[in-house]
Amino acid sequence: MNTAVKIVSLLLGVMLVALAVMSAGCNTKIPVASESSAHASTESFEDTQSTDGAESTDSTEGEENSSNNTDESTSPEQSTSSEDVSSEESEDSGSEASEESSEDVIVDPSEGTGDNSPYGDDYYTYTTDISKFYEAIVLPDSPDKFLVLVNKENKLGRNDVPENLVDCVNTRDDGRDTQKLVYEAELALQAFLNEARAFGFDDVSVTSAYRSYYTQDYLFDKYVENELHKFDTREEAEEYVSTYSSRPGTSEHQTGLCVDMHNLSSASQSFGSTDAAKWLEENAYKFGFILRYPKDKEDVTEIMWEPWHFRFVGRYHATRIHELGLCLEEYIETYYPEQIQD
Ligand code: DAL
Ligand code: ZN
Repeated sequence: MNTAVKIVSLLLGVMLVALAVMSAGCNTKIPVASESSAHASTESFEDTQSTDGAESTDSTEGEENSSNNTDESTSPEQSTSSEDVSSEESEDSGSEASEESSEDVIVDPSEGTGDNSPYGDDYYTYTTDISKFYEAIVLPDSPDKFLVLVNKENKLGRNDVPENLVDCVNTRDDGRDTQKLVYEAELALQAFLNEARAFGFDDVSVTSAYRSYYTQDYLFDKYVENELHKFDTREEAEEYVSTYSSRPGTSEHQTGLCVDMHNLSSASQSFGSTDAAKWLEENAYKFGFILRYPKDKEDVTEIMWEPWHFRFVGRYHATRIHELGLCLEEYIETYYPEQIQD
């Protein structure tokens, strides 16, 4: 080989190595995990409940929380308030990471329609390092663990309290009580909001998470009192309120698996038109969350659109729900009817 050929070969080699190093640095890609073996065994929420002492501790906690900024959904009047977040600001702050995100791997929908088509790690890319949170997000040993449906027809008991509630580190820092979440949901939320921050959405915080039966009772009653003047009977007021605040025993806040998070002073549907809300809805599945009450599913969920309310189900189910375009009711009724109580 003459000298010129040697130099060209050397240069080519150096370029190839440089290219490999550059592409490896783009996104943190988690290692490929073994296939999820979901669905054979399912664990209902009741299986994870502790029934000890809930009543005595929670009845006072309810009042404390409620007078201490436990955020709830707002009434429709408040929902249309002009309190909005500048989309300009969100766009500016999020532009850098957003450009990088164009390389996101899209999940092949054809993989999502079969009953046993778990998504491998290769389907997902993350800008931040999720390795510390991986097990919580993916639930490799029990992907169905949190596939529970709580709604008007599927109720929890007054003493149902989830095990393993931990402090939510992303609780809004405004003097409210530190909110609680089930351990895995809390870790997954940390990863989710770390990623949101990397995209410039750094002002989203948790205003409400786990709520006991008694806290929910207090809140529901408070809303009914506020709405009473608009109706002839208390029943009519209750029926109306139940479209945005769940009656006690029918709120999935009692599962400790969901959060209300936004960047407004109180929850409002105006949050839904912000870049932050759109980013959260679009990326939630990667962290095991779903938007629980979507705008186009109000007739199915029987709850008004809540762009701030995210529910943890684990990455496998969150991805399928996202890809199939279903809400939790539709998904569980179609694929896991055995999860629904009689
Ligand atoms: N705002 C939701 C529906 C709840 O009260 O659980
Ligand atoms: Zn909520």
